[in-house]
Amino acid sequence: MDKFLITGGVTLQGEVRISGAKNAALPLLAAMILAETPMTLRNVPNLMDVNTLVKLIAGLGVKINYQGDTVTADASSIDNQFAPYELVKTMRASILVLGPLLARYGHAQVSLPGGCAIGSRPVDQHLKALEALGAQIEVEAGYVHAKVDGRLKGGEVIFDMVTVGGTENILMAAVLADGVTTIRNAAREPEITDLVHMLIKMGAKIDGIDTDTLVVTGVEHLNGCEYAVVADRIETGSYLAAAAMTGGCVKTTHTDPNLLEAVLEKFEEMGAEVTRGDDWIELDMQGKRPKAVSFRTLPHPDFPTDMQAQLMAVNAIGRGFATVSETIFENRFMHVPELSRMGANIQVEGNDAVVTGVEKLSAAPVMATDLRASFSLVLAALAAEGETLIDRIYHIDRGYEQIEEKLQGLGAKIKRVSS
Ligand code: EPZ
Repeated sequence: MDKFLITGGVTLQGEVRISGAKNAALPLLAAMILAETPMTLRNVPNLMDVNTLVKLIAGLGVKINYQGDTVTADASSIDNQFAPYELVKTMRASILVLGPLLARYGHAQVSLPGGCAIGSRPVDQHLKALEALGAQIEVEAGYVHAKVDGRLKGGEVIFDMVTVGGTENILMAAVLADGVTTIRNAAREPEITDLVHMLIKMGAKIDGIDTDTLVVTGVEHLNGCEYAVVADRIETGSYLAAAAMTGGCVKTTHTDPNLLEAVLEKFEEMGAEVTRGDDWIELDMQGKRPKAVSFRTLPHPDFPTDMQAQLMAVNAIGRGFATVSETIFENRFMHVPELSRMGANIQVEGNDAVVTGVEKLSAAPVMATDLRASFSLVLAALAAEGETLIDRIYHIDRGYEQIEEKLQGLGAKIKRVSS
């Protein structure tokens, strides 16, 4: 199993190119199932999760080709609507093929995704929303069996909580339903907006973009198009956090400051100088020790849960103390015990953590537990004195394209070692 060996104490400087967003590429790939003519998706990040979903879509009979950062697909010859557990268990966002398969073929059999380290990750809201459009849903032997006589019917969907995946699934079903669907309490993440933009380019009729109420007027057919995946706002925030953590100056390119304003404001509260360009962001923390800042994770446009572990790591070496509240997932503090092994002072009470900044972290062997927690350990190792060995870094390969190369490009001493 691969590990990272990181020698800390280096101030990161330079430019890093941001890739397409994992959490946009996944729903956009699922939406390719809806196209009756060939389509092309560019700026697709080369990640384990993306490769898993490409494999699953190929298994449906879609002619799909993934070269470099471009995926081409021809979904005119889909010959089955079955998404097997073997693939879905490794990548829970596979559940996103349910809505498009049901909308286009009237039936689908998709494995229930397992939970993961950060929570049970149920999909009850996805299923409730599809039933509101007339789907008959049965869950049996770990699979969702969904079918509808004729076409799905437009209807009223109200989510009990903001759900990114639920909003994406119902959007990809409603676009081919007969009639108008209103989706209330819809997620407003930039990845949803990206999906809406591509669906409209394919011929869908959707109003309310960027709001919490989406109105979809169903059409009979959707065609392929050419589309580019939006920049990854979490990867952007993660590399800017590396500059804050090491007292450096990093410029992230091929990104968009509007995607992560709540995060940028927290970096400024920490004392960083943040400069925003059209498609770049620079964070300068040279000669400064960040101030620990409190924050609470909330749905977009507020502070994203996917940046919680990374900002907690910066707080761990910050001046003063701060409270971190995780309101989205029930178990997203798995990085705390690992950061504590490196000398962090963090007290957890339920979904709140009080972080008291320390001058220096010290290297220690640690273990990655989930994707974003892994990056927080990398951040801690970059700032710690000595050599840190991080185990189970397969978690990080799921969501960060070429992480060693990108960090080495900023001066980091990091290498992948196989045990
Ligand atoms: C997406 O997960 C992202 N993944 C997650 O990123 C992100 O953390 C999350 O949205 C929140 O922003 C992808 O886009 C592939 P949710 P998703 O449905 O859609 C509960 C990363 O690190 N819920 O918005 O699964 C759920 O348990 C990953 O890149 C239900 O109870 O998240 C959670 O507490 C981690 N029932 C909350 O809602 C449901 O049917 C938000 O989940 C659906 C969700």
